[in-house]
Formats: sequence, C-alpha cells, structure tokens
Amino acid sequence: MTISPLFRLGAALLCCILISQALGQDCSCNFHVKGDCQANGNACVCKLPIGPDLTPIDCTKPIPKCFLMKRESNPGKGGRRPKPENALVDNDGLYNPDCEGNGIFKARQCNNTETCWCVNSAGVRRTDKGDKNWKCTELVRTFWVIVQLTRNNTDSIPEADLKKAIADTITNRYKLPAKFITNIEFEGPLIYIDLKQNTTEKTPNDVDIADVGYYMEKDVKGDPIIPLDNPFQILVNGKNVPVKEPLIYYIDEKPHEISMKRLTAGVIAVIVVVVVAIVAGIVVLVLTRRKKGRYEKAEVKEMNEMQKQLTS
Ligand SMILES: *[C@@H]1O[C@H](CO)[C@@H](O)[C@H](O)[C@H]1NC(C)=O
Ligand SMILES: *[C@@H]1O[C@H](CO)[C@@H](O)[C@H](O)[C@H]1NC(C)=O
Ligand SMILES: *[C@@H]1O[C@H](CO)[C@@H](O)[C@H](O)[C@H]1NC(C)=O
Repeated sequence: MTISPLFRLGAALLCCILISQALGQDCSCNFHVKGDCQANGNACVCKLPIGPDLTPIDCTKPIPKCFLMKRESNPGKGGRRPKPENALVDNDGLYNPDCEGNGIFKARQCNNTETCWCVNSAGVRRTDKGDKNWKCTELVRTFWVIVQLTRNNTDSIPEADLKKAIADTITNRYKLPAKFITNIEFEGPLIYIDLKQNTTEKTPNDVDIADVGYYMEKDVKGDPIIPLDNPFQILVNGKNVPVKEPLIYYIDEKPHEISMKRLTAGVIAVIVVVVVAIVAGIVVLVLTRRKKGRYEKAEVKEMNEMQKQLTS
C-alpha cells in the first residue's frame, strides 16, 4: 500500500519528462542544425547564434544567406565548422558580411576592414575593391542562379524522371515555388539547374534563389545546414541519385563592374580566352612586322644604292 503512491508519483514524473521531450521535439528548427527553439503557446520561437548575438530566425524556410555567411565567418560560440576544400565560384569566398535586419545583404561590404566593395543580392562581389569611401548606390539583384552538379554514377535514368525528382527536391526541401525553376538540363554527367526570380516576380515571403543555391551547395558538398534527420536526396523510384561537385553561377540584373586587371581565379576561363587572344595578336603582329621588315630592308638597300649612284 505504501508503494503505490510512490509508484504513481514516479509514473507521473516519467510521463512529464516524456511529454516535455515530445514538446521539445515538436518545436525544432527545420532549417538550421544549430537553431535553438522554444515552444511559446502555439508558436515555435527560434534563435541562432550569429556573430556575437543570438538572432531571432524564422525556421519555417531557408535562413537568409547573409546570416549563414556571418555565422560561418565568425568562429564565435557555435565553433568553426571545417570548410570543404572545393571553393565557391564567387571569387572571394567567405567574408564577414553586414546584413540588414531581415537578412538581406547590405550593398556595401567591408569584411570589418578598411577595404570595401559592392555585392549583389547573393552577397557576391560585383565591383572592384576600394577604401572606406567606396560607394554602392543600390543592391543589384541576382535574378538568375545556375546550379551545376555532376552525377556520381552512370545508372541510366529517364531524363523526365530525373528532372521531376530534382524539381521535387528543390520545392520540398528548400520551399522554392516551382515557377522559379525555369529549366533543368543534362549534358553527359552534368546537370544544369536554372533558377530565375527577378525583382518584380519575388514577393517578400518567397524564398530567395540565392539562399536555395547556398543550401544546395552545402548539401551536395556533404556539409548540410538542414538537420541530419532530413537528408538531401534526389529520389527516383525511391532510390537516391548521388551528385557531387556543385558550382553556382550568379547573374545580376545589371552587368558586373569588375575591371579586368582585378579578375581572380573564379573567372579563369575569361582570362584564358584573353590570353589566347593576346597570343594570337602577338603572332599576327610578329608576322606583319617581319613582312614590313623585309620591305624596310629592301627600301634601305634601294636607298643605299641610290646614294651610291648619286655619289658616284
Ligand atoms: C575577410 O577577412 C578575413 C579575416 O580578416 C580574411 O581571412 C578574408 O580573406 C577576408 N575576405 C575578403 C573577401 O576580403
Ligand atoms: C520579370 O520576369 C517576368 C516573367 O519572366 C517578366 O515578364 C518581367 O518582364 C520581368 N521583369 C523585369 C523587370 O525584368
Ligand atoms: C562517388 O561515388 C564513389 C563510388 O560510389 C564514392 O566512393 C564517392 O564517395 C562518391 N563521391 C561523392 C562526392 O559522393
């Protein structure tokens, strides 16, 4: 008889613990592995350590790239995650960005230094660098993001099925409305995904294509931002199609303003073309010089002869 009340108390305690755990599980951040959430009535309120502060975030959709980059560039509390070796196509890689309160990149970025430059809405540098007085009049929108992936097996899969699987992954996993996936194309093992979303098309609530690119790049590199219980998969008939080597290209509504002499590794293809053009130019120059040289020599000879004739 004396055991029963104790037992009841124990059972009640156990029950409480289980319920609170269940509640904790109900309220977690679906879009950041380090998101810290607490149930508040029916709402789930989440925060993320970004820089030195805990920043409130909306965990129902991808977290803005500016916040993610800031978090990553800061060794702060969360610890510094190891970076995969594959570099971004955006020339500068990581910097510590200045974000607006809503997670949009500020047009001018200085990486906490005296050197500043202008970025697009994807946070990628689009001008030369200058000093603290460098002016950026507007944040130019990246309206087109190309995601290039490479398939990591050669299983033959009908194109239409693979296209649908990729589109489903993008709409379900990153919450991007399907209308912004304008094309998916294959070329051997390469997959090209075009995401287009211009200023007039995007409503404030729509996920930004630049954020989708960032999440996808991390997923394919095996360094996901989304919690591991929701793995990245491209499922065709229930079977994952493995992909690797993500490359992201950004195209802005206005042409970038980076002068040639400052171009770095990311635009190596352009430089190669320029070098080829210069070599071709030199070859042409040398050839024409040679011909000209012959004429000049001939002329000199004639002149000499004329001189001789004159003096004789
Ligand atoms: C930003 O600053 C960090 C630390 O000073 C540096 O390692 C990084 O290269 C800088 N990035 C750019 C794009 O200047
Ligand atoms: C934005 O895209 C829509 C649909 O593709 C197009 O009709 C519209 O002209 C575009 N607006 C701008 C400003 O480019
Ligand atoms: C590609 O596939 C090979 C063989 O299955 C595997 O060992 C490798 O880890 C894969 N690479 C990537 C980046 O997934």
